[in-house]
Amino acid sequence: MTTGGSQLANHILLVGFMGSGKSTVGCELARMTGRPLIDTDDVIERMAGKAIPEIFAGEGEEGFRERECECLLRIADEQPSIVSCGGGIVTTETCRELLGRLGFTVFLEVDAGEAVERIGASPERPLLKGVDEMRALLAQRLPWYREVADLRIDTSGREPAAIADEIIAALRERGVL
Ligand code: S3P
Repeated sequence: MTTGGSQLANHILLVGFMGSGKSTVGCELARMTGRPLIDTDDVIERMAGKAIPEIFAGEGEEGFRERECECLLRIADEQPSIVSCGGGIVTTETCRELLGRLGFTVFLEVDAGEAVERIGASPERPLLKGVDEMRALLAQRLPWYREVADLRIDTSGREPAAIADEIIAALRERGVL
């Protein structure tokens, strides 16, 4: 997939591991900024007409990742929004490159133990396993989260509203809002 090279949009994008709070913090940010909230998992399910576990079962993880890239390209045309991204979106180079051109990316940091605690059992997340597997997956992805991040926020033990406040303050300081 070729994606060109210029800035495509002015979104605020949230990345981070499953359970890092992207959806809840995204809701808070949308409420506080008055911007629409876009959830890449929801967009993919709508476009596919299938739930995520079905996509993984039929097309494998690779098929799902291709759909994530298509989704990012599609939201380039949307008005400036808050975009909550699926936890594995950083695993493909095309998506990482697109994130850089879609706006300002905030990495919500969480440790694997707290992430698993927050999510609990979740049949809609095909890659969710035990804490040890999650720790290994997070370690593998950390360099990619850091690569795409314009801002890193520690979410450990914190409430979504406090995290959203900190993000808004940081975005104002940087002239993004
Ligand atoms: C995934 C995370 C999920 C979803 C899919 C794959 C991952 O999104 O995109 O199950 O690879 O980490 P959340 O991070 O919103 O749970």
